[in-house]
Amino acid sequence: MDNLDGIIADAKANFDSITDLAALEQAKARFLGKSGALAELQKGLGKLSAEERPRAGALFNNAKVQIEALLQARREAIAAVALEARLAEEALDVTLPGRGRSRGGIHPVIRTWQRIEAIFRSVGFDVADGPEIETDWYNFTALNQPENHPARSMHDTFYVEGGLLLRTHTSPMQVRYARTHKPPIKVISPGRTYRVDSDATHSPMFHQVEGLWLDENVSFADLKGVYTDFLRKFFETDALQVRFRPSFFPFTEPSAEIDMAFASGPHKGRWLEISGAGQVHPNVVRNFGLDPERYTGFAFGSGLERLTMLRYGIDDLRLFYDGDLRFLRQFN
Ligand code: PHE
Repeated sequence: MDNLDGIIADAKANFDSITDLAALEQAKARFLGKSGALAELQKGLGKLSAEERPRAGALFNNAKVQIEALLQARREAIAAVALEARLAEEALDVTLPGRGRSRGGIHPVIRTWQRIEAIFRSVGFDVADGPEIETDWYNFTALNQPENHPARSMHDTFYVEGGLLLRTHTSPMQVRYARTHKPPIKVISPGRTYRVDSDATHSPMFHQVEGLWLDENVSFADLKGVYTDFLRKFFETDALQVRFRPSFFPFTEPSAEIDMAFASGPHKGRWLEISGAGQVHPNVVRNFGLDPERYTGFAFGSGLERLTMLRYGIDDLRLFYDGDLRFLRQFN
């Protein structure tokens, strides 16, 4: 029993040197465990005389309680240190000024996209969405450009694995839509298009909107009316001139480029090309699965970037894709 104070002192020194809980539990076994220091002494208790035993037992129990208390105190101390460290690490300075949230804006090209949808919807056109990864058939063949047609070289196409390609125009949507809808067909299809082209006026990715109106007796005159009306609404002025200049596309006959000029303002009188268009070619109408003797109509494909540049007076196409906030903020 004389050893008890020594054991308690040992336990305290030992516990105090430990800084993590797992090691502390191992130290506990050394003092309180089945083959620990106290258990050894306990074996001796039985050999004592009946008079000695109660006093020794009390001392023994007292030592055990003290060691357990030391252990618990150490556990709490270790936990407190860990908590302090965590609090320090996760401290938030609630007095720091907030970062604020700035308001985003709709990208000018997307604004144009949305305006075009609204304008054409208001005159009864449906709006269709289609794949940017296309088959050769929809992008070229169905549009009257067979395998070796020289017109295919007009486009420098991004080809994708598996015989697919990134659509070079939105015209494949004429075919997709017309093959799945019955006339009268009135649809626009805005979206992304891709060509191997990159400079101040060409981007490898750009946007077009395709238009198609096909029914009995839809003529080139309807194209002129609808498109001119669209431009007046889009630019919010009647003070513009529109001209249809003869051109060529394999999928339209006759074909035209549509040019426009403002009748007033800084760009007054300067003709700018904004769209390709024409009467849908009979071969294409056949590929729609329809009879070209009965159904006629027009199609157009206009560049959204071009329309956006004219509307906002932007002179460099690359501004649309640089993501420069000084530019974009102006459209908030
Ligand atoms: N797809 C043509 C182009 O990208 C534009 C066009 C569409 C022309 C529809 C006529 C009819 O240049």
